[in-house]
Amino acid sequence: MPIHPFRLITQATIQQILSRIDIIDVVGSFVKLKKRGMNYLGLCPFHNEKSPSFTVSPNKEIYKCFGCGKSGNTISFIMEHEKYSYVEALKWLANRYNVEVEETEVSAEVRAQQQVADSLYILNSFAQQYFSRVLFEDEEGQDIGLSYLKERGFSESILQKFQVGYCKESRNAFVQEAVAKQYNRDLLVKSGLAANRNEELVDNYRGRIIFPVHNTTGKVIGFGARIIKKNDKAPKYINTPENEIYIKSRILYGMYFARQVIDKFDECLLVEGYTDVVSLHQAGIENVVASGGTSLTTDQIRLVRKYTNNLTIIYDGDSAGIKAALRGLDMALEEGLNVKLVLIPDKEDPDSYVNKVGADAFREFIATNKKDFILFQLEVALKDAAGDSQKKATVVNQIAETLAKINKAEDFTRQQDYIRQCAQLLNIEENGLNNLVNKFIRERVSKQEAKWQADFTEADNEMPPPLEYDAGSDEGFQLLIKDELQERAVVKALIEFGGKPWDETSKVADHIFNELAENDLFDNSQLLDVINTYKLWYDAGLEPTAKNFFYHENQALSTVVVSLLEFPYEVSEKWRNKFQMPVSSREESYKEEVLATLGYLKLRKIKRMMMENQADLGKPHSADEQLTLLQTHQALKQMEREILLHYGTVIMR
Ligand code: UTP
Ligand code: MN
Repeated sequence: MPIHPFRLITQATIQQILSRIDIIDVVGSFVKLKKRGMNYLGLCPFHNEKSPSFTVSPNKEIYKCFGCGKSGNTISFIMEHEKYSYVEALKWLANRYNVEVEETEVSAEVRAQQQVADSLYILNSFAQQYFSRVLFEDEEGQDIGLSYLKERGFSESILQKFQVGYCKESRNAFVQEAVAKQYNRDLLVKSGLAANRNEELVDNYRGRIIFPVHNTTGKVIGFGARIIKKNDKAPKYINTPENEIYIKSRILYGMYFARQVIDKFDECLLVEGYTDVVSLHQAGIENVVASGGTSLTTDQIRLVRKYTNNLTIIYDGDSAGIKAALRGLDMALEEGLNVKLVLIPDKEDPDSYVNKVGADAFREFIATNKKDFILFQLEVALKDAAGDSQKKATVVNQIAETLAKINKAEDFTRQQDYIRQCAQLLNIEENGLNNLVNKFIRERVSKQEAKWQADFTEADNEMPPPLEYDAGSDEGFQLLIKDELQERAVVKALIEFGGKPWDETSKVADHIFNELAENDLFDNSQLLDVINTYKLWYDAGLEPTAKNFFYHENQALSTVVVSLLEFPYEVSEKWRNKFQMPVSSREESYKEEVLATLGYLKLRKIKRMMMENQADLGKPHSADEQLTLLQTHQALKQMEREILLHYGTVIMR
């Protein structure tokens, strides 16, 4: 099994990078900035605006948009704008400021693997350029490859953007060039570019169109090679075999070109094939990626979630892929993704359909035919079960289990809506379905509790975590899980305001530590790590700031803090709206901010307790038990009101 390659950037390098970066220079290369007094002003790159509200302060080395609230430092700007991980952002900056990146020693095995990975990147880049040159400049490339693609309606500029190429029909035209350039024969086989035929290396993609596959930083990690001539014996596509850099379960074709647009429109379209992605891009629909027709993996879902919570699957109606895609989707629900489905009619696929009806009609079709994934699944299952009461019982159970997976406290109304709609479709009592859903929730809650318990005990007994950072799993972003937003807000308030006075005798940090001591309010052990590290420093007489964490030797910790700095303001705004707390300007009112974030955290705890209690209420009980549960519910409601009242009035004062 290939291990994802990673290395550690040394602290010396990080410090060197930090000392050289100039926020005006970095931001200025993406945003046109004008000087206004002490600061610089420009049009915000993170939302659409006509008059500039994006401000950069060279003194404080931060940016802030007064329109959308995005803010952060130079590193978080690159992370946000380029959708890079912390390590990727550092490498980008190092490259720009000519800082040589020094990486710590890793085991010989990991180093060897990293070397193979590096060589594969280089070979793939060479191959991509070679195949593109053949497509556009070689006679055979033009006559066979380019004319085929043009016939299908692809423009030269879109082919160039996606770096499409062509491999000649010759036995080994590519291999010869590669060998002449000293590329190693084992590597050529490993990359999938060459095949070993009786000890002779031959081109693996002979006579095929070449679609390079890029990772999210734009490097070529593999290829999909499509046959041109119809041939029943040969496969339609030959894909790169799994190797150190091509790990199919983590790849979504087109993500490199789509990621910023997905972020902007807050929606990711998912299609099956290479040509679907390229065609839709050509039509100006750029928030689209392809899965290659297999069921979605957890890694792929997480990749989508880096950019959006809204996934719209666009498949042709009678495709075999649709069943495969549906299989992975219960997992997507658990991850909190909103999944919609659009079926393309009449034996078309997205590529042919957009070519047939044009971009506007295509968009219109998607918008009006989006089906909710859960209801769709139910319709399909019901059709399957038609008239068979045994089967229908199974369907009811399955849908209840699916609905139980919508588990976020905030999504309670969404869950209730679904229960109503599904009960209608199933033609059963809403109450009955409700009870069943609650049964599944109960099971899950107790399972989860056991797991939290285990996590905490483990964290207590363990040695400090080893200094490793896996760029692939990107902890900073994984922290953006909805449930943790309140935790993040508290940690952020601690780092930002900890040293400020709370009252005559104590500081903000004291107050926060007091409040957190009473309750176990945190789930996330990394965020707890940040708090504990802060406390350690604080107790030693320091007043830690974000910078202390940037320099912390534990990179996971500094990643977490960097990701906190870009913690969006709109989140607490969303909560404020929901609980009708008045908004106040942040800079002058740090106490209110601290109170509010602690309030939200407590609210979350109460909401969770209410949810569990509610699930319990669904069970059959004796009258006494039922009464106790109802009283618990009342008590929790009362606590909720008090918190809102308390923090509400403090803020309104
Ligand atoms: P399709 O058969 O729909 O191909 O397979 P396509 O991409 O739409 O290509 P055109 O439009 O017919 O030229 C969808 C995807 O399934 C994977 C590829 O990723 C393809 O893009 N696939 C298909 C394979 O990996 N191998 C195959 O043999 C066929
Ligand atoms: Mn197609």
